[in-house]
Amino acid sequence: MKSISANLNVIIKACEKASKSLIRDFGEIENLQVSIKGPSDFVSSADKKVEKTLIKELQKARPDYSFLSEEIGEIEGKNKNHRWIIDPIDGTLNFLHGIPHFAISVALEKEKEIICGVIYDPIKDELFFAEKNQGAFLNSKKIRVSKRKSIKDCMLFTGGPSAKYNDKEMCLEEYNKISNFLTSPLRKMGSAALDMAYVAAGRTDGFFQRNLSYWDIAAGIIIIKEAGGVISDFSGNKEFIEKKNIIATNSYINRELINLLKT
Ligand code: IPD
Ligand code: CA
Ligand code: CA
Repeated sequence: MKSISANLNVIIKACEKASKSLIRDFGEIENLQVSIKGPSDFVSSADKKVEKTLIKELQKARPDYSFLSEEIGEIEGKNKNHRWIIDPIDGTLNFLHGIPHFAISVALEKEKEIICGVIYDPIKDELFFAEKNQGAFLNSKKIRVSKRKSIKDCMLFTGGPSAKYNDKEMCLEEYNKISNFLTSPLRKMGSAALDMAYVAAGRTDGFFQRNLSYWDIAAGIIIIKEAGGVISDFSGNKEFIEKKNIIATNSYINRELINLLKT
């Protein structure tokens, strides 16, 4: 692996620091599962703790940069050309149920282009990262998307539908359509960031979901691209991803998946 940039190093250090409280809090979840109120307040405070640590660490290293973070929203810094995009816990529902599959996701934008990103799964200690033109990595190993050429033989992930949107019917229809076509079952793992990281690492061949948020996908976008994968929306647009409807695949199956979703 070539040496990593100072900005990427800043993100990695911030993620490592924030993961300490997250791992501790995850250890507490099991005890809280049995309480009557349930652990959702606890999860929301764990989420905020992670966000606070990330923002503090990133601000310490780059005092002027701006932020877009899920819980706190926009923070406009003096430097508006650089913006950190943060999802403190992606896979909150898994976290809430004591399922060890969630991640911290942080990306950096320069003049509206994502230039580096990190998705860190603290429980498995798996750090997926990439920066522009430097390839994508899992811990210190270079990763590439899979080489499967036909969707029939592929494993695909999806997520949603989201209760916030009126897309339930359409998502279920799409789910059934793709499901019937595949040889192996379509999976919902519960973390869009890790879904994208797994596509980049070739563990799965593709991922699609409607109505994601920018913080769910920002780090995933650069990691997939640098691993040789393709990102588009459901119409095939690669530059302007409409409504954060995402199709993230290896380099072979993007068009076939778009066509299948359309039929
Ligand atoms: C959610 C996860 C999930 C996806 C949802 C997202 P959160 O993010 O990425 O996999 O299906 O659409 O909102 O709420 O856990 O940060
Ligand atoms: Ca998320
Ligand atoms: Ca989140």
